[in-house]
Amino acid sequence: MKSFNTKEKLVAYLNSVRGKNLKIGLVPTMGALHEGHLSLIAASKEKCDLTIASIFVNPTQFNKADDLLKYPKPIERDKQLLEKAGCDILFNPEVSEMYHDNERWNYKVGNLNTILEGKFRPGHYEGVTQIVYKLFTLVEPDFAFFGQKDYQQFLVISELTKHFKLPIQLQACPIIREKDGLAMSSRNVRLNQLEHEKSLQLYQSLKFIKANYGKLPKEGLLNQAKGFYNDDLLDLEYLEIADQHTLSPINDQKNAIVLVACSVGSTRLIDNMMLP
Ligand code: PAF
Repeated sequence: MKSFNTKEKLVAYLNSVRGKNLKIGLVPTMGALHEGHLSLIAASKEKCDLTIASIFVNPTQFNKADDLLKYPKPIERDKQLLEKAGCDILFNPEVSEMYHDNERWNYKVGNLNTILEGKFRPGHYEGVTQIVYKLFTLVEPDFAFFGQKDYQQFLVISELTKHFKLPIQLQACPIIREKDGLAMSSRNVRLNQLEHEKSLQLYQSLKFIKANYGKLPKEGLLNQAKGFYNDDLLDLEYLEIADQHTLSPINDQKNAIVLVACSVGSTRLIDNMMLP
């Protein structure tokens, strides 16, 4: 695997191979890789001739300084995992390589910025779109791969790509779960054993909603599912059933998704499931 930490070297390499009509796949990550990320690498390798993973813990998308500080950065382990997964290129820049002082980003995220994740993490999607736009315009991939766990992020990035008319096909890959159902996340390593057990309530509540969707009125169903969170260690931020395309309150029973965000101790987790 080739590894670059400057834009110049990455672009020089990509320019040297671009004429060969290769399909380029980009897997943007913040590192602390797990099976979910590796499934994105596998999806890219299936569709593309050249797979690039970026590892960059993007400071502008953290709305809590503490969360950024605590974000795990096991870079050597990540490199080994990428190598083993057959990734062709790693791009792993420093913050100063990606941002200059007092940089501005004027893209307006729209309605998705005010609901669910957007509401609870002010500024988060501005930061995500800022870095993803930089990565997209740097790498100019044919395909980019994201996890369905960050479903709202995927919709936000889809809008960004349309807005700037970037010729990139986006692919959302299925959520990968631990054996016990917990959606894989880089933040899971922060959970102690008790917190891990409690975090299974997210999956249980989503399964409950899926099993009863259409059988009970929406509000009653959500109220019952909120009962899964009656625990001192759990702090539910939202549990909502929404339209899959807009995440607005549902008006079509067919294209629905249930989304949840909950802190377990000091670790914030999200999950979702398509309905029915
Ligand atoms: O999903 C993530 O890991 C990040 O939000 C992303 C897309 C790599 C941007 O920093």
